[in-house]
Amino acid sequence: MKFKSCLVFSIFLVIAIVKAEVFDITKFGAKPDAEISKALSDAWAAACSAQQPSQLLIPKGRFCLNVAEFKGPCKAPIEVKIDGTVVAPEDPIVIPKGAQWITFSYVSGLKITGSGTVDGVGGAMSWPTDDPINTIEKGSPLQYNLCFNFVKDSSITGITSKDSKNYHVNLMTCTNVIFDNFHVSAPQASPNTVGIHIGWSKNITVKNSVIETGDDCVSTGDGCESIHIEGVKCGPGRGISVGGLGRNKGEKPVVGVFVKNCTFTGTENGAWIKTWPHSHRGDASDIHFEDLVMDKVENPIIIEQDYCPHIECKKNSPSEVKVHNVFIKNVKGTSTSPEVVKLRCSTSNDGCENVQISDINLTYDGNKGPAVQECHNVKPVYTGQILPPGCAPDAIN
Ligand SMILES: *[C@@H]1O[C@H](CO)[C@@H](O)[C@H](O)[C@H]1NC(C)=O
Ligand SMILES: *[C@@H]1O[C@H](CO)[C@@H](O)[C@H](O)[C@H]1NC(C)=O
Ligand SMILES: *[C@@H]1O[C@H](CO)[C@@H](O)[C@H](O)[C@H]1NC(C)=O
Repeated sequence: MKFKSCLVFSIFLVIAIVKAEVFDITKFGAKPDAEISKALSDAWAAACSAQQPSQLLIPKGRFCLNVAEFKGPCKAPIEVKIDGTVVAPEDPIVIPKGAQWITFSYVSGLKITGSGTVDGVGGAMSWPTDDPINTIEKGSPLQYNLCFNFVKDSSITGITSKDSKNYHVNLMTCTNVIFDNFHVSAPQASPNTVGIHIGWSKNITVKNSVIETGDDCVSTGDGCESIHIEGVKCGPGRGISVGGLGRNKGEKPVVGVFVKNCTFTGTENGAWIKTWPHSHRGDASDIHFEDLVMDKVENPIIIEQDYCPHIECKKNSPSEVKVHNVFIKNVKGTSTSPEVVKLRCSTSNDGCENVQISDINLTYDGNKGPAVQECHNVKPVYTGQILPPGCAPDAIN
């Protein structure tokens, strides 16, 4: 008898753990091809207040969505399963002023799963404006596809972010978040469509993901700590970056970025650290780029302390961001510019410090001379096989 009741209890426990209560948006009034923001917010309210683990389900089908804010904290772990295609309004004006398109905030233990797509419908109405800052000032900002603010202990797997109007994903003040098997898709010519931007966050992992977009595949802003980017296929895109740092006063350091086992195909940059000239103070250290393959990349390895994508910078005034403890190891492949390694460090703060490069083999795929390395205000330490040869110590200014 004792054994039996124990067994029954165990089975009950297993079922309770495995079987999350499902909140299907179609039970809350969502219909294919119709606008679903009310149904989605009602389903979220019910799922988020459930005492047991719950699943909010967006089933297969096409749904239109003007805006969604998924706000926690929730009572129990929550899964959002996206199997359908969720489509944004084409005109950014339709999304309420000040909101992003889809936002998750103050949620812990969130799992986003499914095989669906969130389609930001970037294109004619948002991409030609090329300057989101200007657009914001004009009162018509371009929205991110997915925003995560104050999200903790969470994962995003399986889904695709397509054609965002602005960044695909923006993380702000997040901790312990994993993107695994996440996809980003936008044309090479789409401006500002950063794949995943991480800011003010700690212990974030992006792995086994394919990112094809018009801007940085992954970028790491100030205040980031322990960022792991592994097994990412980047391209088209502008590379995997740390920065641009130093633009704003009081930026917090970037410490610990690990980019490993990634491939870059036809991208503008590969391993990229960028800081603004004429900048505020900043600090970037403990940065690792390891086991990378470059396929026709314009700048496979680049530290760019005179990063200035807009014309208003004072390029003659140095960057005040200190870049130190950078480790670049086992990088192979082809470059479309002869300067396959560009280390353009600032004249300020004694330049870059402790930059170590080992085992690189980068060939120049073009006819403007041999492949070379370029060094300014840095004395890299080379070990292993270095092709093309490193900057000669006395040639370094
Ligand atoms: C980092 O985040 C992952 C995923 O949430 C978690 O499993 C791991 O324990 C975290 N590591 C630390 C040191 O907090
Ligand atoms: C490297 O990344 C690929 C995905 O691009 C993955 O399939 C493979 O398992 C990774 N290899 C290692 C050693 O982690
Ligand atoms: C460097 O890479 C090229 C092809 O990208 C290859 O042909 C060559 O053997 C490599 N060199 C060494 C020393 O590994």
